[in-house]
Amino acid sequence: MDERKPASDWTTDFDILDPDYNLDPGPVWREMRERCPIAHTERWGGAWVATSYDDVQALVRKTPELSNRQPTVFPMEDSKDILADHYADLFPPLTKDPPEHSPLRRLLLPFFSMKAVEAHRPFTEQLCHGLIDGFIDKGACDAAEDYARQISPRVIGHLLGVDLGRTDELVGWVRGLVELGAANFELRSESYRAIRGFLGEEIAKQRTDPGDNYISRLQASDIDGEPVSDIVILNMCMLLLVAGVDTTWSSIGSSLLHFATHPDDRRRLVAEPELLSSAVEEMLRLHAPASAGRVAMADVEHDGFTFKRGERMILSFPAANRDPAVFECPDEADIGRQKNRHVAFGVGIHRCAGSNLARLEMEVALAAWFARIPEFELSDPDAVTWSAGQVRGARTVPVRF
Ligand code: HEM
Repeated sequence: MDERKPASDWTTDFDILDPDYNLDPGPVWREMRERCPIAHTERWGGAWVATSYDDVQALVRKTPELSNRQPTVFPMEDSKDILADHYADLFPPLTKDPPEHSPLRRLLLPFFSMKAVEAHRPFTEQLCHGLIDGFIDKGACDAAEDYARQISPRVIGHLLGVDLGRTDELVGWVRGLVELGAANFELRSESYRAIRGFLGEEIAKQRTDPGDNYISRLQASDIDGEPVSDIVILNMCMLLLVAGVDTTWSSIGSSLLHFATHPDDRRRLVAEPELLSSAVEEMLRLHAPASAGRVAMADVEHDGFTFKRGERMILSFPAANRDPAVFECPDEADIGRQKNRHVAFGVGIHRCAGSNLARLEMEVALAAWFARIPEFELSDPDAVTWSAGQVRGARTVPVRF
């Protein structure tokens, strides 16, 4: 199949990398939900695609038959056996199915309780104000590149306890792994090896010189009396980078794009700062960045469909968040929306473990921005770009103020 050809029919030929879809996915999701809520595509290795809220909710619960060992929306490696056991070790606990999933999830949850993430607020506030100091006098910046992109890797680096001087390199590798390498196995493997090399060095350093951080505390913990090995710690650090960096940066960038292009919402948030938290939830709903993949380990029945062993599934949390059966006026933002049970953080046993941290980063980033730059607009609407694939978010947002 020529992957560059525009999709002929969204219900039979869905292309998650199609540039037009990516610019404005709402109409495509609407069409798919109305005509064929569980669609199938041959693109990118072939997959079923679930777009309705109820289907997504039901399918995440079909675990371990619909397995998370390949949670990516593209197959992880060309020509390898898609069901191979080693995939489950890659990003624990995300890639683990029950019963291995829970003990690993329990290990990381304490780092992301409301109380634990509050400890990162002062660092995040200082970081955001420092970034704004760097461009405020110019009266213009790229809100995605100069601001959103700079926040989450530094917050996660701070949490892990790694060398923050190498954040730019780290961001480049994470981008190569989860975004630019989506359809480029060579770049993806190169980026994967580079991150592992970096984390391996940091983990070895902390064995001899421990600190009060994620890596050192995992090194001091155990699962059922067994110490956690450095390789499991390395894989758990990898997960925070692939799960927490471009998701959060996408959400901050997409939110700033929204406020740059919706003056009524912008002014409302300035006038009613108490809406910050519901505004963050609405941005998460409307511009949910992450879709998830699953692979059928056995034939799985659902609503008259049979997903055959070895077939892949894309769970579109972003499409589910626009389902009119659940959300009024789903394609429009209401920053004061009260009933907002969105699934931007997924649902079920793999629901985002870092959601408290993600929310804190979004709130701090928007509060700092609005305190210093309450009036802003796009300086070049044609220059706006979005990332495509597993994580969709605004990547170029040129603004003036
Ligand atoms: C706006 C930002 C974020 C969004 C939209 C998001 C979204 C998601 C989604 C949809 C899942 C479920 C994937 C699946 O079902 O296969 C997930 C899982 C996960 N996320 Fe996030 N995430 C965000 C930020 C973060 C951050 C900041 C961290 C930590 C630093 C993080 C850590 C994790 C972890 C550890 C899992 C796996 C949980 C498990 O398997 O038990 N995420 N995230």
